[in-house]
Amino acid sequence: MATKPALVPPTDATTDSTISRRGFFMKLGILFNALAATVVAVPMVGFLLSSITRGRANGYLSWVSLGKVSQFPEGETRLATFQNPSVMPTDGKTADTACWVRHVAGEQFQVFAVNCAHLGCPVRWFPQSGLFMCPCHGGVYYQDGSRASGPPERGLFEYPYKIENGLITIHAGELPTPGAPIAELTGERPPCAS
Ligand code: FES
Repeated sequence: MATKPALVPPTDATTDSTISRRGFFMKLGILFNALAATVVAVPMVGFLLSSITRGRANGYLSWVSLGKVSQFPEGETRLATFQNPSVMPTDGKTADTACWVRHVAGEQFQVFAVNCAHLGCPVRWFPQSGLFMCPCHGGVYYQDGSRASGPPERGLFEYPYKIENGLITIHAGELPTPGAPIAELTGERPPCAS
């Protein structure tokens, strides 16, 4: 009959090494959990704070030149393009943004976002009829940007502008939308809402 091996109580050294190994893996687990939580939390916090931080982003809501006033003859409406000031360097040509410039008289202008107020299709100016028309769903606007007919519920979005040193500049950087929460946050006038 085989004899049972006698139980040997663990020595102090064995107990210490078990505890220290267990403690080490515990600390390692906590460290990995903290790292994983940080990786998940950083973009979420960034998203939650974006409504505040983007108001301070470089180029956001800044004045952009459309060119010389003389490029826009009185009584005419012409297409102009500008570089969206709030884009990234990698955006390339997509940073080029179109707008319609109506020179009413003297230093009186209207600068319209090119996007239809319905679903954002680019509207075209027809000087023969004195109307802006949208190719997507038939939205029509008068020469002053007010709604004439079709699905849009409002007139064209308008940029604030100023004339300085013979140049016409607009307040650009925000996409034209009916709401203007960021402009309200920064205490500035909505750039594209009339
Ligand atoms: S997008 Fe212009 S009418 Fe619908």
